[in-house]
Amino acid sequence: MTGKRDFLLEQMRARLEHYREIGIDSVTPRFQSILLRVLSHQSPDAPQAAPPYSSPHTPAPGVKNPPAVMEPLPATMSMFERKLGDTPSNFTLEQVRNDLGDCQRCRLSSARTNIVFGSGNPHAQLVFVGEGPGADEDIQGLPFVGRAGQLLTKMIESIHLKREEVYICNVVKCRPPRNRFPEKDEIAACSPFLARQLEVIQPRIICCLGAAAAQTLLNAKVPISALRGRFREYRGAQLMVTYHPAYLLRNPSAKREVWEDLKKIRAALNLEHRK
Ligand code: URA
Repeated sequence: MTGKRDFLLEQMRARLEHYREIGIDSVTPRFQSILLRVLSHQSPDAPQAAPPYSSPHTPAPGVKNPPAVMEPLPATMSMFERKLGDTPSNFTLEQVRNDLGDCQRCRLSSARTNIVFGSGNPHAQLVFVGEGPGADEDIQGLPFVGRAGQLLTKMIESIHLKREEVYICNVVKCRPPRNRFPEKDEIAACSPFLARQLEVIQPRIICCLGAAAAQTLLNAKVPISALRGRFREYRGAQLMVTYHPAYLLRNPSAKREVWEDLKKIRAALNLEHRK
């Protein structure tokens, strides 16, 4: 139990640290509740019996302001493992954007013209995640507005959706020089904001366009050819990996496979009969 408790405390400490780094200085009542339970040596999986502290005046060691009412524990320990759709996020995309601020967290900030945060429907059922802005996106501050973006628009329309109905964003929010693949530390600095965007939007389907998005969200260094073609799970959403539209511009024969992937998304969203 001690080992498990230490492990959980370490996880929570890392999470709080990350929150602080990205400018959040308060946590949800649920997080506080879990922290209290771990600090009071209770198993996070314990049945929801009496709260460990019956009175807010007897705080857990190291906790200054315990919540007056203990919330029910989630089935799983980590709120970051909970399923999308369980609870609406406390945040909005505007808050995530504000937390990103005038970001200087990695070297990509030095050459950018604009941060490309993302655009589209904040309540989208389908989110497309690309790699990082190119030259056109960097100038306009909007994702997928160049040639690859025009092809993405056609892909979206091919499954009977309008571009405004989906949300589009990238793994890194600043343009990598000469459109190179983002470096590991750049992805590490930026991907927490992608995770928070997805947490706020809570889409039913996430479509990863290319290896950067797929490997980041699935946390797997596996070639895209081995990942594409079937749904995977990402925090309760269904995640489809497919080829990046820029790859399709260079390799039009791969459009056939992308169309197979898009049809699966269309079926999952019941869009077959939509005009
Ligand atoms: N390629 C991407 O991955 N993202 C964009 O926004 C544009 C091109």
